[in-house]
This record gives sequence, structure tokens and C-alpha cells, in this order.
Amino acid sequence: GCFSQSFLAKRYKIYYNTQTYFKEDRIMIIVTGGAGFIGSNFVFHMLNKYPDYRMICLDALTYAGNLSTLEPVMDNPNFRFVKADIRDREAVYKLFEEEKPDIVVNFAAESHVDRSIENPSIFLETNILGTQVMMDACRKYGIKRYHQVSTDEVYGDLPLDRPDLFFTEETPIHTSSPYSASKASADLLVLAYHRTFGLPVTISRCSNNYGPYHFPEKLIPLMIANALNDKPLPVYGTGENVRDWLYVEDHCKAIDLIIHNGRVGEVYNIGGHNEMTNLDIVKIICKELGKPESLITFVADRKGHDMRYAIDPTKIHNELGWLPETKFADGIKKTIKWYLENKEWWETIISGEYQNYYERMYSNR
Ligand code: NAD
Ligand code: TYD
Repeated sequence: GCFSQSFLAKRYKIYYNTQTYFKEDRIMIIVTGGAGFIGSNFVFHMLNKYPDYRMICLDALTYAGNLSTLEPVMDNPNFRFVKADIRDREAVYKLFEEEKPDIVVNFAAESHVDRSIENPSIFLETNILGTQVMMDACRKYGIKRYHQVSTDEVYGDLPLDRPDLFFTEETPIHTSSPYSASKASADLLVLAYHRTFGLPVTISRCSNNYGPYHFPEKLIPLMIANALNDKPLPVYGTGENVRDWLYVEDHCKAIDLIIHNGRVGEVYNIGGHNEMTNLDIVKIICKELGKPESLITFVADRKGHDMRYAIDPTKIHNELGWLPETKFADGIKKTIKWYLENKEWWETIISGEYQNYYERMYSNR
């Protein structure tokens, strides 16, 4: 007939072999930014937990994306890597046509606050316009769920002298950096696509993650790498700023729950009530690595530096039963062990183009 076997197979999601045929309802998930820190951990978590799902990673491989990170799953028949930019409408539509995804999880973003202070433009382009392209593709081809991975930074910051205050999903958006402003803009657009076009969306706003494959420009991996190389540990300002740290695997489990059981149109905060000052974090890293605290160097503060982030995770706990499983004391040990055992991964990064960034950011600071 005029329809090829493979066309029919795709059309009806029926796959044939010589013996028999069966209806396949395996779920197709496009993960953008899957070569980055959290996205790669999410790909590993999902392939491991749902061996019958198909995971398609779409990533532009910017400075923050690393194909070697995905090496353990490259040969997995349920995994496909596609190098493309979420701003590239044509490439994104082509991928949707090929894969007909059920779910999209959008991790792809410019993610570093200091870089957004240096040059905001790419943050607006990727984080806002890229999100628009992904959602337009979802509208055009149909989708069961579009999930936007957002951040607690959209709520701005809390004062240090009010430990009773936490971010809830009702806390007003109040951003400080070009990074957080771009993420908040994307969130508003996601909610607009839900209200206006009925796109089935969810949004998660997570606190600071740590764990394997964290790019060494961020606080924890930067301090681990510098301490191991006996280099100064550059703490911004007084080091009193507070972040609410969550082990990356716990974030991945929360997103897994939201895409399966979360209510469409809803925002879920994710965080583990694990607030620590930057200085305490750096001291713990020194202690774990047996390095002297004299390596700590106070440097000029970040512009517009948020004081404190703290998440109230009541909603995701009550609705979806999520709770963080990894205590910081264990998570930081696991993380340090990973950086010790995977030196090649981060040494390759910090020996390349990243050196120019480090010079610009930290010399004469
Ligand atoms: P990351 O910088 O490690 O990874 C970002 C990934 O996105 C990289 O693989 C990069 O190549 C890819 N990417 C960037 N621009 C792209 C584009 N235009 N098209 C396609 N791919 C592109 O970031 P991360 O820390 O893993 O963060 C992932 C997401 O989680 C981001 O949306 C971030 O805002 C959010 N988030 C991060 C944290 C955190 O603590 N790291 C906390 C809350 C939310
Ligand atoms: P970062 O890892 O960049 O995450 P975010 O700014 O998104 O919270 O920084 C975490 C905290 O650590 C933040 O308060 C800034 C501080 N910081 C330093 O003191 N020194 C550094 O070299 C870096 C990268 C961050």
C-alpha cells in the first residue's frame, strides 16, 4: 500500500517483528539540557528507573554541556542524543516530528549568575526565547506534559534576620540578577501558555543543587577543585550568604514525581530545609579534604548578591509525598568522593576555555 510499515508503526505506535506485534505505549521523553549537571543526572535516573521509556536528550553543548558525561548511556538503545539549540525552531520541530514525544522536560538554560552579570543577552535568548520555541513545538505537535525546570531564585532573597520566612509557591516573583529575571520571565510565559492555549504545563522551582557532574564554575565544585590544587578559595563578600542545598538525585526524584503525578498548571517548590552559609560550606570542604582554612580568601562581593534562599516544600510533600532522602553530611561526602574519582572529567574542563573565564572573574577581584 501507500503507507510503509514504519509509517504505520509510528502512526499507531505499533511495532512489528516477524513473529508477533504489540501495541507499544512506551513513553517518549525529550530532555533538553541533558548534557549539563542536573539534566544528565535526570537522564541517568529515568533510564535506570524506567527501562522501557525512551529518553531523547536535546542539547546545544555550550561551554556547560559535556558529551562525555553521557557516555555511560550513549549505547543504551532507549537513549538518543541530538545536538541542537532550543532556540532553533526548525531543528526542534524536526525532532518533534521524528519522535512525537509525550513529555518534555526543559532543563536547557544559561545557569550561572556571575556570567549573567557579565553578559545578560544570551540568558534572555536561551532562557526565555528557547522556552518559547519548546512550548510552540509542544502546541504544534501535541504533548501530554511540558515541564519547566525553574529555580527558587525567581522569588528574590530573604533577610538573614528573619529565619521564620520561607519561599512558598505564593511568594511574589521578585528577581535580582539577569539570570533570575530570565528564569522568572520564562515561568510567566509557561503559565501564559497554559492559561491561553491550554498547554498542559508544570513548573518546579528548586533550591541550589550539588552532586556529580556539577560544572566547576559553581561554588561547591569550584571549592573542591581549588582546594585539591591548593589554590585560594574565593569567598564573595563576608561569606554569610545562605543557600538551601539539595542533593541532585533528590531534585531528579521530585521532577519524576511531578511529571507523572503533578497537577497541570501548578508550580511546585523543591528544597530540603538544608540552609548553610557559604563560609560553612567552604570550611566543610576544607575539613573533608584535609586542607587548611587559610586557603580561604575573601574577595569582592557579587553585584546584587542575594542574601538567603529558603524553600518551604510543604506542597510537594503533601501532594506527591516527596521528601529529600540524602542528608547533607552524606551528600557532600559522596560528591567529594565523585570529584576525587573523576578528576579527568573536571580537569579537562578547567584546563580549557574555562581558564579565560576564571581569569576574568577572579584575577584582581
Ligand atoms: P548547566 O549549566 O550545568 O547545564 C545546562 C545545559 O543546557 C548544558 O548541557 C548546556 O549545553 C545546555 N544548553 C544551554 N543553552 C542551550 C541551548 N540554547 N539549547 C540547548 N541546550 C542548551 O545547568 P544546571 O545546573 O544543570 O541547570 C539545569 C536547569 O536547572 C536550568 O534551567 C537551571 O536554571 C535550573 N536550576 C538549577 C539549579 C542548580 O542549583 N544548578 C537549581 C534550580 C534550578
Ligand atoms: P553559585 O554556586 O554560583 O549558585 P547561586 O548563585 O545560583 O546560588 O553560588 C552559591 C553561593 O556561593 C552564592 O552566594 C555565591 C557564592 N560564591 C562564592 O562565594 N565564591 C565563588 O567563587 C562562587 C562561584 C560562588
